[in-house]
Amino acid sequence: MERKIITTSELPEDMVSDNKLRPKYLKDYIGQNKAKDSLKIYIEAAKMRGEALDHVLLYGPPGLGKTTLAGIVANELGVNIKITSGPAIEKPGEMAAILNNLAENDVLFVDEIHRLNRQVEEVLYPAMEDFAIDIMIGKGATARSIRLDLPKFTLIGATTRVGMLTAPLRDRFGVINRLEFYTEKELTDIVLRSAKVLDTSIDEDGASLIARRSRGTPRLANRLLKRVRDFAQVKYDGTINGTVARESLNTLEVDKMGLDEIDRKLLSLLIVQFGGGPVGLNTLSAALGEDAGTIEDVYEPYLLMNGFISRTSSGRVAMPLAYEHLGIEYSKKDDE
Ligand SMILES: Nc1ncnc2c1ncn2[C@@H]1O[C@H](COP(=O)(O)OP(=O)(O)O)[C@@H](O)[C@H]1O
Ligand SMILES: [Mg+2]
Repeated sequence: MERKIITTSELPEDMVSDNKLRPKYLKDYIGQNKAKDSLKIYIEAAKMRGEALDHVLLYGPPGLGKTTLAGIVANELGVNIKITSGPAIEKPGEMAAILNNLAENDVLFVDEIHRLNRQVEEVLYPAMEDFAIDIMIGKGATARSIRLDLPKFTLIGATTRVGMLTAPLRDRFGVINRLEFYTEKELTDIVLRSAKVLDTSIDEDGASLIARRSRGTPRLANRLLKRVRDFAQVKYDGTINGTVARESLNTLEVDKMGLDEIDRKLLSLLIVQFGGGPVGLNTLSAALGEDAGTIEDVYEPYLLMNGFISRTSSGRVAMPLAYEHLGIEYSKKDDE
């Protein structure tokens, strides 16, 4: 399904090139100034004291640079990073083993941290707070728990669903950063930088066209750049300019506003099935067949920010831009 190209979640094709395109240090990480500025200070302070950085939570929609930023923090600190994810760790013992193998001041990156199961999560509480784990030995009446000291380390958690974190876990992060959608200018800079890494020639026009259709998301910008580069090589002379970018993006049927399949389905449901709203989140979730929390944390932020929908006390409402985008005539309903 060619439509997959405009999803912001990670596709297999991204894994290989993502690593090459990932900036390694803060100076190359474009945008996200708020998160960058605060991290810079904490990193500096931790280095001056020769201590581990406080635990860091990064959250925001997919493809905005959470994994990249975690790697950068480790590089800037000059320590090793161990990477795992919520669903990958099934048993408390596995988490204990990972923690026990860290070296002093190392970074442990847990992606999709909201998906850790409860028992595994509970191993993290004393680990994050006291740098220790409690291990049960023996069985039944003779069972007892012993405390094992861990090296000081920094946990970096990433999540698209911050609302799903339990309070005790969230409270143990000293630094919490929300990543924001990127501006067109920032995405243009990212495309220009990626083109350089990929050794592809591109001009400002070409880069800004790709940026505009990237849904505020670097992962999508990089993916579109690679597709357009293929076009430029096969159909043109290899250089990406405005014309080449426009032609290729049209051929790829990339949405002018960067909306993906689910965005469009959500908007058309809202307009066609629910007469433009207001419709409650749970009703929308059932109709769309998507988890309500995912709609709220992953899909709605971009639609809200760009004025496709609005949230009212009685539910979600489709805005004129949504009608226009889908080519449906906007008929303002009589207000109650
Ligand atoms: N601030 C940034 N500057 C340059 N490239 C970025 C930036 N943020 C993300 N990227 C690029 O976007 C891609 C996806 O980023 P990633 O960190 O995997 O997102 P997330 O973990 O939030 O889903 C990476 O290949 C990276 O090269
Ligand atoms: Mg990631």
